Amino acid sequence: MNRTLIQDVLTARKIGESATVAGWVRTVRHSKGGFSFLSLNDGSCFAQLQIVADQSLPNYEAEVLHLSAGCSVVVAGELVASQGKGQAVEMQARELRVLGQCDAETYPIQPKHHSFEFLRTVAHLRPRTNTFGAVARVRNRICSAIHEFFQQRGFLYVHTPIITASDCEGAGEQFGVSTLDPAAPPRDEKGQVDFAQDFFGRRTYLTVSGQLAVEPYCCSLGDVYTFGPTFRAENSNTPRHLAEFWMVEPELAFADLDDDARLAEDFLKFIFSAVLQNCADDLKFFNERVDKTILETLQGIAESEFVRLSYTEAMDILGKANRTWDYPPKWGADLQTEHERFLTEETFHRPVIVTDYPAAIKPFYMYLNDPDEQGRRTVRAMDVLVPKTGEIIGGSQREHRLDVLEGRMSDCGLNRDDYWWYLDLRRYGGIPHAGFGLGLERCVQFCTGMANIRDVIPYPRTPRNAEF
Ligand code: 4AD
Repeated sequence: MNRTLIQDVLTARKIGESATVAGWVRTVRHSKGGFSFLSLNDGSCFAQLQIVADQSLPNYEAEVLHLSAGCSVVVAGELVASQGKGQAVEMQARELRVLGQCDAETYPIQPKHHSFEFLRTVAHLRPRTNTFGAVARVRNRICSAIHEFFQQRGFLYVHTPIITASDCEGAGEQFGVSTLDPAAPPRDEKGQVDFAQDFFGRRTYLTVSGQLAVEPYCCSLGDVYTFGPTFRAENSNTPRHLAEFWMVEPELAFADLDDDARLAEDFLKFIFSAVLQNCADDLKFFNERVDKTILETLQGIAESEFVRLSYTEAMDILGKANRTWDYPPKWGADLQTEHERFLTEETFHRPVIVTDYPAAIKPFYMYLNDPDEQGRRTVRAMDVLVPKTGEIIGGSQREHRLDVLEGRMSDCGLNRDDYWWYLDLRRYGGIPHAGFGLGLERCVQFCTGMANIRDVIPYPRTPRNAEF
């Protein structure tokens, strides 16, 4: 079908021109004088195109008068100046073909307010709403900005596997991958499940991060990034956690934590600027209907400098704060959401990069600092915290000293033999390198102001929820 996108009709076509558009009816009004007004959306932009269909159409009585929200139509007609408010141009239909009827009685997406909770139960139809169309377009723009940013800087896009034998984050929150019969798996002589007889001849999992697999490419080819789905079997029922989410992970060659933090700041600013520039109508909607500070926040961040401070400095600030905490800050413990929000929203009013966390709460692969004056051990880790969303990026300089890395693996109870290939990178031409992971959904949440992460991914996977 030779159709014109509604976005192009509204921005590039002139009054008097003819066009053919296709889409879904959002609302319809039949007026007494033999006119019907349809607002049509095709997903190409936030706005609807108003179609005026009148009784001169041969199928007016038989079809047009029976149209309701949700029907799909294709319309050929002429663009005319609109008499109505809210749009400069509308289409006078010359021909209107109904592609798909829609049962108005049972159609779940009525032209009225629906709660996000309800819309999650109709995840296959929620992209027909203003909010989910706008989320999908912003998400798409963020993804294209991610590739633009790294491609412009000469990073190589590397595809890392989804099925893996290693536990990158060492937290043991992995989904197993197996073709063994769960009701009667083969057993070894000790009575344990014998994974040697499984599909891959060993235990395998869905990846929690592409980092370990992308590091060899960084340590051979220079700056690289991987971008794909990641999986975590943590039982976190929060508005910021998914069991399946997308992560983009750059890995910088010949780099330390300062280089890493600089890249993270430039990267986020690039993404926010792209969304501001190319998703103006969608952002305007989020600013009016979801979070009235979104535009101001994104603009502010695109122009401001991120704060950098160490974990120990952050703990000092939190310790001196005059407030009651659910989790009183304590050196050695991880930062809680309330701490992150206090730093970004009440202390600095902008993104904060916290570095050098206690070694004991971070994975084995992070570069170990010398002990501080009090003998405490930290690693060259960083978390980028943003207002409301909290941690959006986690990263570190990697431990490239073989002996130190082996020591850390022993401390973390990891078997070196399982990581022989990772250790090889430190044996053969090792280099200082660093990287980070940006959670795509946290980034979409931040850009749209959507409160629940389940509403920024098409089909959220969370504990006890995998329909659709
Ligand atoms: O801090 P994380 O666990 O870092 C890593 O996985 C590193 N291997 C990354 C690297 O250095 N290459 O996760 C990185 C980001 C978090 O900051 C957060 O934005 C997101 O991934 N994230 C989640 N997003 C949604 N649901 C979850 N359960 C998430 N867990 C982490």
